[in-house]
Amino acid sequence: MPELVIDDPRNDADYERLIDLDSQGFGAPRERSERWVAASRPHVRFRMARMGDEAVGMYALIRAGQFYGGRSVPADCVVGVAVSPMWRRRGVAGALMRDLVRVARDGGGAVAPLYAATVSLYRRWGWEVVDRSLQHEVRTAALSSLRGEGEPVAEPPAADIEAMRREFLPRWDGPLDRPDWWAAVEAGFDAPPEHLFLHGWSERGRLTGYTRYRYTSDSHVAVEEFVAATSNALRGLLAVLAGNESLHQEIAFHSCLQSRNDLLYVLADASKSVTTKGGICWMQRIVDVPRAVQARGWAAATSGRVCIEVADPATDATEPFELEVSDGRATATPGGGDAHVRCGISAFSAWYAGTLRAADGPRLGLMEGDDESLRRMDELIERRPVWMPDHF
Ligand SMILES: CC(C)(COP(=O)(O)OP(=O)(O)OC[C@H]1O[C@@H](n2cnc3c(N)ncnc32)[C@H](O)[C@@H]1OP(=O)(O)O)[C@@H](O)C(=O)NCCC(=O)NCCS
Repeated sequence: MPELVIDDPRNDADYERLIDLDSQGFGAPRERSERWVAASRPHVRFRMARMGDEAVGMYALIRAGQFYGGRSVPADCVVGVAVSPMWRRRGVAGALMRDLVRVARDGGGAVAPLYAATVSLYRRWGWEVVDRSLQHEVRTAALSSLRGEGEPVAEPPAADIEAMRREFLPRWDGPLDRPDWWAAVEAGFDAPPEHLFLHGWSERGRLTGYTRYRYTSDSHVAVEEFVAATSNALRGLLAVLAGNESLHQEIAFHSCLQSRNDLLYVLADASKSVTTKGGICWMQRIVDVPRAVQARGWAAATSGRVCIEVADPATDATEPFELEVSDGRATATPGGGDAHVRCGISAFSAWYAGTLRAADGPRLGLMEGDDESLRRMDELIERRPVWMPDHF
């Protein structure tokens, strides 16, 4: 039997194979996979697993940043993980994950966020859940009395949207710091363009918010992005969505609002007008501990040191790091003395991402360490509210 080889696609025929793998893997129409691969090709790192001449699996990495502690951390967003139905349950995805960690690290990445169709596969290879995506369905009528000063703008330029996001979103942990081409690659593959809307909100000539939404085939309004930096943008953009009231009684916000979100404060009675359903999980993985530690912002008012031993199933290494924080910056130096805390890279990643407290680690079976070291570890990290406004 030939060996499994994982490498870059080499020519157009390989890209055709990737289209087949994506379309079969996700049960998507081939034209949709074709559009996605064509738009992604200039920007996205594709990898392909082969058995002899047969393409058996794939994944792709989209380079962006991710805000943590107010700074942009180099992030490889993982998409398109798929194994041919004929080759499943033989370890191909595991081999792809090992390759992914190496490729992302060698390419300068620090973290590799993803949305997991299957948590167990990714947890096995070093990812951990940070949060669960939510769908909020809002009665359109509940939005209709809202007004904001300023005006809606159709199709604001991508560069203005991304600049606004970069200014506004670092106050959370988790949002993507997206390259200007992001929307051209990740938006608009599910519906023909006439059913997609991109509206901005402008105040005195400045873009202060935007929303991207579409009409689905079953006549719903599905909001895929919603970012409002001011009160006027928040109310104005919700009023734009309320303009769909004659045809659509509900507006569904897909994976783009926080769990404790702005609607709670803006609507008269959110408990009567909003229904919330849980969706798939956002998982995080660090691919390079020293780089990830150096790149994020840390607690400015605290300084200290903890020795942490981190086990990584993708490299089979268990490595001690000395985590040292001072003046809002930190280093993780390999080596150091006796470990105060022991954990897997998955738990370390969830702690880094801001939703797992080290103090809870032992209770969840995710970390070992004495109470004092775990408490110190939690003090060193700057915690901001966690939000992933992007679905990819
Ligand atoms: C999810 C997916 C990528 C997994 O691919 P895969 O190659 O079958 O995954 P692996 O073989 O590495 O591991 C899957 C399972 O097979 C088991 N397995 C791995 N090697 C095995 C072997 N030699 N013999 C028996 N079982 C094996 C693993 O333990 C694992 O089992 P578990 O789920 O009970 O833990 C594949 O099912 C797929 O393409 N699904 C559709 C697209 C999709 O959902 N992608 C994920 C998007 S986030």
